[in-house]
Amino acid sequence: MRVLVTGAAGFIGSHLCEALLARGDVVVGLDNFDPLYDRREKVANLQTIAHARFTFVEASIHDGTALDHALIGCDAVFHLAARAGVRRSFLDVDGYASTNVSGTADLLSAAERARVKRIVFASSSSVYGNRAPPFREDNALGTPCSPYARTKQEAEQLCHAHHVATGVHLSCVRLFSIYGPRLRPDLAIRIFLQRITGGEPIDLFGTSSMRDYTYVGDAVDGLLRALDRSRGFGIYNIGSARPISLDELVSTMERILGVRAKKRRRPAQPGDVPATIADLSRARAELGFAPRMALERGLATTARWLTHGTHAT
Ligand SMILES: NC(=O)c1ccc[n+]([C@@H]2O[C@H](COP(=O)([O-])OP(=O)(O)OC[C@H]3O[C@@H](n4cnc5c(N)ncnc54)[C@H](O)[C@@H]3O)[C@@H](O)[C@H]2O)c1
Repeated sequence: MRVLVTGAAGFIGSHLCEALLARGDVVVGLDNFDPLYDRREKVANLQTIAHARFTFVEASIHDGTALDHALIGCDAVFHLAARAGVRRSFLDVDGYASTNVSGTADLLSAAERARVKRIVFASSSSVYGNRAPPFREDNALGTPCSPYARTKQEAEQLCHAHHVATGVHLSCVRLFSIYGPRLRPDLAIRIFLQRITGGEPIDLFGTSSMRDYTYVGDAVDGLLRALDRSRGFGIYNIGSARPISLDELVSTMERILGVRAKKRRRPAQPGDVPATIADLSRARAELGFAPRMALERGLATTARWLTHGTHAT
């Protein structure tokens, strides 16, 4: 199969490309090196996926000509390119909407021109808003708690409209707090591991937040299963379904690193919801998805990558 991956130079996109190549697919990666974090990290991600069956296109999803070219002969698209991050979205509401909503519309139009038959969209647990967990795909979506969450809700709606209009198989995969090697520099797990290792204090925002932290390998497995097994229009939660509190997260890190964390308590940040827990019933039943990575081992792998740049599990 020939597959386009948008956001290929990013954290999850680079792992997804590797997994597609490992199973024999031909992969076209597209990314514009959005400046939300250092281009050099993304170049390093791409270097690890260098392969005879991988080609890379530096372009934006707004660039219809580049997309038309990249999509020639493609059977499927994974659409991961986005401005990610809840907190930062408050600082650039228009920029997030432009990339995540208009950019998704641009990508869907190009996929239609290229007659692509299958699309998987990387959505987010943030679409559920502030509601009582566990989150199920058939829950009515609440008011989004951040501009980022709103963009993912709108992009899902565009995906649904695209499926209705064209009949292509299209899945929206709602990812829950993904972590692992190549983790984005703005995410708490990376910041905590680096600061605890360096003996620096960490800021704990909110008192009792619970998160369904999901290892990137499990997220990639969920994305691939959505491509291979979903028919028609589907929405799937992909998480670990093993939520833990912020305090448990930090104590697990302390055990792994053998260092006591210096903690500073801070008020909850705008956009954060108290708890995210995935109900995986649908993903288990329809995709055969079962998360495998235990948090302690996944964190140890992430810490090893941060220290040594390697991540054999
Ligand atoms: N990391 C998580 O916990 C998480 C959770 C839920 C959903 N997601 C979603 O998964 C996807 C990947 O997230 P990530 O954590 O790997 O983020 P990331 O920032 O590492 O990757 C996103 C990539 O998209 C690229 N990009 C941004 N704008 C673009 C544009 N206009 N044209 C082409 N490329 C563009 C960026 O350069 C980046 O490499 C995103 O859609 C994100 O919203 C991530």
